[in-house]
Amino acid sequence: MLLLLCSIVLPLLLLIIISNNHNGHSSLPRAPWPRLPLIGNLFFLHHTPTVASLTEVLRRLHAVHGPVVSLWIGSKPAIFIACHGIAHRALVNMDTTFAHRPTSWYTGLNSHGVNSATYGSRWSRLRRNLSSHLAGEHVAGVLRSSANRLVKSLESAAAGEHGGDVVTPSDTFRHAVFGFFAALCFGEGVEEDKLRRLRGLHAEIISLIVELDAFHLVPVFVQVVCYFPRWRNLMRAQRSHHVLVTDIISARRRRREEGVGCDVAEPRCYVDTLLGLGLGEDEMVSLCWEYMNASVKTTTTALEWIMARLVLHQDIQQKLRDDIARQASSDHTTCGERRRRRPFVEAVVLEALRLHPPAHYLLAHTTDKDVTLDKHVIPKGSIVNFDVASIGRNATLWTEPSVFRPDRFMEGGEGTGVHCTNAGCGGPETMKMIPFGAGRRACPGAGVAMTVLQSFVEDLVRRFKWIPVDSNVGTDVDTTEKQGIITEMRVPLQTRLVVRRDNLLFE
Ligand code: HEM
Repeated sequence: MLLLLCSIVLPLLLLIIISNNHNGHSSLPRAPWPRLPLIGNLFFLHHTPTVASLTEVLRRLHAVHGPVVSLWIGSKPAIFIACHGIAHRALVNMDTTFAHRPTSWYTGLNSHGVNSATYGSRWSRLRRNLSSHLAGEHVAGVLRSSANRLVKSLESAAAGEHGGDVVTPSDTFRHAVFGFFAALCFGEGVEEDKLRRLRGLHAEIISLIVELDAFHLVPVFVQVVCYFPRWRNLMRAQRSHHVLVTDIISARRRRREEGVGCDVAEPRCYVDTLLGLGLGEDEMVSLCWEYMNASVKTTTTALEWIMARLVLHQDIQQKLRDDIARQASSDHTTCGERRRRRPFVEAVVLEALRLHPPAHYLLAHTTDKDVTLDKHVIPKGSIVNFDVASIGRNATLWTEPSVFRPDRFMEGGEGTGVHCTNAGCGGPETMKMIPFGAGRRACPGAGVAMTVLQSFVEDLVRRFKWIPVDSNVGTDVDTTEKQGIITEMRVPLQTRLVVRRDNLLFE
């Protein structure tokens, strides 16, 4: 017994004391004690380390220590910031310092993506390419046909066998959003069967990714010991994904070379732009993975939350419908096209993103040097993250933050200055919500995501009435969250869907 004490317990205690006393960063934000060498302390703060438990731990720590707290991941501090002013200083005032991403010994399919690229010329080139592709005129055309397909699928669902107007639309939303981004990424004309397989592989890979690892919060030691068996399946799924996407890219390349069905002079889809950059196969597969992975689940989740809110708040749904009708009768351009930007629909989307941001945290940031932020020293190489959900729901920034009230984004409201596609540009006030992040690494897809959401929501509200399954109860939409890398509805939305026959403005 004494031998055991001397040979294992005492050295371990010594190591703990040394690693806890000897961090050399005395003014780091508060970290709860103790932390173990190789492991840190996050894994001791909760028995099941998931995004949900991390959120719970951080809520407790913020309540005691304020808006900046730290944990330890192995030998690295992980610092969490839940204040829009400090986030503004870091992401906007010190943008280049905080534009770095932590490195990882294994990044899988993300290894060549924009999000994992070192801040520098390669990142800048790839990001510019993505942004200009997303700003292309072709987006509007693809969006129109995707929205029409979505409406048609829901019409069939609403006219189902049981007089069938009760629907669970999540899968239809997912299908429509996936179809839209797949058409932008790979071009139109990819066989339905390949797209179905791709969708399945995406779902499988996402289910195998270790949640906290996506935020760089799993020490290497824990990854190897605890998650190794899971990796075999992940590797297999990633290999299948690689084969399938390479095949789709090759088909696209051939079509372009043969000039079949596409205008070779003007690249349209993302793959065309990647082929134009002369990238290697692995790079292109990784960038296509990132494109679909970053866009589909985030946008689908946001759409489901928005529609859930509109089912819950029938008055807001009607106000939106009236606004759409008013705008449509006055907004025809000379070409007869309707303008897509509508103030109230934008307010509805913003309010849903404030209250239900799909990503409760940003991707992990890091710094290339020691920096002082709000009296704390952030050591070079720390993991730094920002609590998106807490900022958007902060009662010192928003009146009655848990109430769904799109009017706050209308003229004169407390959210008037917030434009989350360029958060931070007009000062800290514009960072009262950051669903797409802010600064150098802010989401390059924010503009497209906002356009898709507004466009889909408009068509869904114009074509259908979305009513609670039991209109006497009114509370049968469960807004409980299923927390994860993306925070979805725990219980998928169910609604009574009525096709509007009085809808003269549609089509
Ligand atoms: C509702 C939809 C979306 C949400 C809520 C969302 C949210 C985010 C967030 C929070 C970040 C991290 C920002 C940071 O770390 O500072 C991010 C990064 C990123 N997003 Fe999005 N996103 C959405 C749609 C899209 C779309 C449509 C695309 C592209 C097709 C996209 C591509 C990316 C990329 C490439 C990055 C990494 C940027 C970089 O590291 O430079 N996202 N997004």
